[in-house]
Order: sequence, then structure tokens, then C-alpha cells
Amino acid sequence: MTTESEIKLFLDLEPRSDAILEDVIAGLSVCPKSLPSKYFYDARGSKLFDEICTLDEYYPTRTELSILETHIEDIVSSLGDSVILVEYGSGSSIKTRLLLEAIPETAAYVPIDISREHLIDASVQLKNLFPDLTVLPVCADYSQVISLDLDDAADGRISVFFPGSTIGNFSREHAVQFMSRVHQLVGVGGGMLIGVDLVKDERLLHAAYNDSKGVTAAFNKNMLSHINDRLGSSFLPSAFDHRAFYDPVMQRIEMQLVSRVDQRVRVNGNSIQFCKGEAVRTEYSHKYCLDQFERMSTEAGFVTEKVWLDENEHFAVQYLRTI
Ligand code: TRP
Repeated sequence: MTTESEIKLFLDLEPRSDAILEDVIAGLSVCPKSLPSKYFYDARGSKLFDEICTLDEYYPTRTELSILETHIEDIVSSLGDSVILVEYGSGSSIKTRLLLEAIPETAAYVPIDISREHLIDASVQLKNLFPDLTVLPVCADYSQVISLDLDDAADGRISVFFPGSTIGNFSREHAVQFMSRVHQLVGVGGGMLIGVDLVKDERLLHAAYNDSKGVTAAFNKNMLSHINDRLGSSFLPSAFDHRAFYDPVMQRIEMQLVSRVDQRVRVNGNSIQFCKGEAVRTEYSHKYCLDQFERMSTEAGFVTEKVWLDENEHFAVQYLRTI
């Protein structure tokens, strides 16, 4: 049995409070206001996200899992043996288990997540399922550049796993920048297994981000509690409403927190005014067409080697190889 005290972080780049303060003030000092989506994820946020993934209305998780299950042999043969699997936004590493079970020899698994406690918990669970696996957890904000030197830690070819259509949470421009950084990390002959949510009927999208149990609403508002915990600010989560809608022109879901009243919030000596009905954007979730995404991959230096779809073509799992 591996326990929490035996898990050592390979790298600890947890964002410091001053960086969070800077982001929060910058986002709330401009019009329209926004907050970075990475701040959804404290221990409670990661748990709420896991709960979203089990909801009937949230089709991406089960659809991606079914694609991975159906095509696992083909997927694993694309990744090859002796792979160092690096996962960005690893959360509970549920999808990764499928890969780890199927890859004959995994040199190491490097889960990267901003949510420190949750990352450690997930690493403990994984070590107990795969006792021989080398797990090298990294606590970091991967929207920033992370210099990850794995040369001395493991021997193998690096492949990146980036499921959940998390790529959709970057703007299109930042998505290409992120993929270029991945390209640099994996080097020649490396690759990336990525999940991409596709453009579809708006009603399905609307339901997925406005679930009937209100878990997504709780997840959205939890960002304010998280910021209060880290900065000692005075947000009242119940003074904001959850809103998520699809913008068909930009082909993305936009998620917001909408102020229910005129109010002022204290953030480290700053006083921030919110008018009744004023929205703070907390996230975009871009939806892609296959050809559009392929152009972005090409721009970042990848060839789209394989694309696996579900029968409704709601979601794509792709293997991109560096050129
Ligand atoms: N990558 C996920 C997505 O865009 C993240 C996500 C799912 C999410 N549900 C959410 C983020 C609800 C915020 C709120 O679908």
C-alpha cells in the first residue's frame, strides 16, 4: 500500500498567492470582467469536476471513454512501448488507467495538475493500482511555460495525453501556442493523444453546461470560494448566478458568474464594484470541426495521424505526431 506521505512531487510549481492576486485584479479591472478558468480547481473544485463528469447531461466524458475503450489496441499501438506518458490536467487520472492497463511497458507517468491535494490523492490511488509504475507528479499551471526535464528521471519516448477537450478551454491562438510547447517537449518522433469536443446541436451543449442538479453552477461559484481561501477576499458566492450559453459564431460555450445585486468586493486592499446583472467570464469551451482542428495542429508542427470518433461524431480522440 502506498500512502500519501510516500508521494513526492517531482516538481512543485503551485501558483503563489501573489500570482493569483495579480491575475484576479487584472481580470476584474477591465470591462468585460473575467477570471482565469484554472482557478476552478482547488480540492473541492476537482471533486465537483469529477461529479460533472458522471452527469447524464455531460456527454464528453463518457463519449471519450467509450472511444478509448473501443479503440484501445489501435491507440496503444500508436503510442508505442517504453512511453513516458505526460498528462496535462490529470485530475483523477481515470481515463489514464485505461491506457496504463493496455500499454505493455510504461516507462513513467507524469501527471500535471494545478490542484495539489487532488494530484497527490490521485497519485496514491494510481500507485496502489499499478505498484511498479514510476509516477512523477507535477503541481503546476500548464497555461504557463513549464520546463520539464525528464532525462534523468525516466528512459523512454515522451507522449502527451491531453483528454477531456481541455484544449477547448484555451483561446484558439493560445491552443496553438500550447500545442507548440507540447511539440517542443515531446521532440521528434513523439506524439500527443488529445480529446477534442466537436461542434454539435446547441441543445446538447446547453444541457451539458447547465445540468439539472446544479453541479456545474456549484463548480462555477466555487471559484470565488477558492479565491477567498487563497487571498482572503470577500466574495459571496451566493451573490452570483451561474450562466452558460453557446455562441454559435465563435463556436464556443461561454461560462459566466453574474452579479445578482450591485455590490463591492474587497480583494487585498482593492474594492471592486459589480453592478446588478454584470457578468464575469470564467471559461470558454471551444468546439471544433475536424478540418479546423487539423489546421491548428499543423500550425503547431503536428501531423494528424489518427482520428477516432464515436458513432454520433460528438467527440474525437486524435493521435498527433511531431514532424
Ligand atoms: N474541458 C471541460 C469542458 O470544456 C471543462 C469543463 C467541463 C467545465 N464542464 C465544465 C468547465 C463546467 C467549467 C464548467 O467541457
